[in-house]
Amino acid sequence: MNILIVGLGYVGMTTGLVLAEQGWKVTGLDVDKGKISSLRQGVLPFYEPGMDLLLTKHQKGGSIDFSSDPAEAIREHDAIFLCVGTPSAPDGSANLTYIRQAAQWIGEYGQDYKMVVVKSTVPVGTQECISSWILDSMKDPFPFDVVSNPEFLREGSALSDALHPDRIIIGSDNAKPVERLMNLYSKLDCPVFVTSPKNAEMIKYASNAFLATKISFINELARLCDKAGIQIDQIAQGIGLDPRIGGSFLKAGIGYGGSCFPKDVHALLHTAREQQIRLSIMEKVVEVNQTQYLVYLDKLEQRLTSLRGKTIAVLGLAFKPNTDDIREAPSLAIIRHLVEKQALIHVHDPAATLPEYLQSASVRQCATCEDALRGSDAVILCTEWMEYKTADWFNLRKLMRGTAFVDGRNVLDGKRLASWGYDYMGLANG
Ligand code: UGA
Repeated sequence: MNILIVGLGYVGMTTGLVLAEQGWKVTGLDVDKGKISSLRQGVLPFYEPGMDLLLTKHQKGGSIDFSSDPAEAIREHDAIFLCVGTPSAPDGSANLTYIRQAAQWIGEYGQDYKMVVVKSTVPVGTQECISSWILDSMKDPFPFDVVSNPEFLREGSALSDALHPDRIIIGSDNAKPVERLMNLYSKLDCPVFVTSPKNAEMIKYASNAFLATKISFINELARLCDKAGIQIDQIAQGIGLDPRIGGSFLKAGIGYGGSCFPKDVHALLHTAREQQIRLSIMEKVVEVNQTQYLVYLDKLEQRLTSLRGKTIAVLGLAFKPNTDDIREAPSLAIIRHLVEKQALIHVHDPAATLPEYLQSASVRQCATCEDALRGSDAVILCTEWMEYKTADWFNLRKLMRGTAFVDGRNVLDGKRLASWGYDYMGLANG
């Protein structure tokens, strides 16, 4: 099988490299010519641990190459993986422009059998739309199948998640593409669950919605535990020992961000509205997430009396460690709030960059964590990068003007920091 990956973001690059690693020959297609020329030189458009090495390996070995020519790429490949973005439209629905464009290319340029594998996160029923977009743009008839095959990788650990998946979901009503896809994935050791396309599409949303629910559940409970003097991490550990609950995604903090949970929960809510169904639990999941950072900022404001004119070091911009992705990162909401309160903000992140719209006289990005802390009245840790977890906080304290320390991820030893003179504030971890 000749494999074509359409869309070279996290999902596309990971899928392509993992298939190359399994011994398949892969071509990556993207209309962004700048991205293609960088990739040809081995330069990734984003930071993802280990991916540059795997890219170099497979470029040298000749198992991956790149193209920006949809016509030629589609003609020459029979297994086409759609990995393009499905960003949120203003009404919360998933914007399917790029999916539709790719489907139209397939219809227009395809000549013989194509297996179209949908890896992008798409609303229930999209597989049927893709089929009709292909048919509508077909010049001469050719056979094809559209299979739903959602992806469950996490940024920051994308390669290991994709090389060691916990399950493969295949949504198809047709045995031929299921067999072909199982053959493509035959070296991956995990359960394969075959279901209908609509079910597969919903499994993806339900997975992300459930994980987001776990996070908002523990975050809201942390608000109560904070007042009652109860340690939320101990509660998470205790309940997590019950296999019906499970211990993961119960880490309390300033809330979830990223390109997936916020977008997918909104898209699910949009689908529910279309069906005139109210998903009240999901509505609350969003509400808790959108207000969680305020719990921390309220504590800080009370401690400093006012944020006006105070210098605050914000450590971590990325929505999670080991990525430079800042989409929907809680740090951005925190910075916007601090700007409104007329604070001065020093930002640091080991990989991510402050977006232009936030750059101003009162917000500046510093090259090092030390620069950000110098002269600050308070520090807010937004992303649990290893660099911050292992920093020499005893000596760093001397660079600061004040002592307030907000641990937005409950990752540092509050008692130790307090013994070094910090006014440590976590949530329910005293
Ligand atoms: C998420 C899912 O975990 C993947 O399975 C899925 O494939 C992906 O979305 C997607 O749909 O593409 P990702 O957004 O990369 O992956 O990262 P996560 O590790 O899930 O973290 C998401 C957010 O939740 C981060 O802001 C993280 O800090 C936060 N989080 C996570 C918590 O606040 N507490 C936790 O216990 C876990």
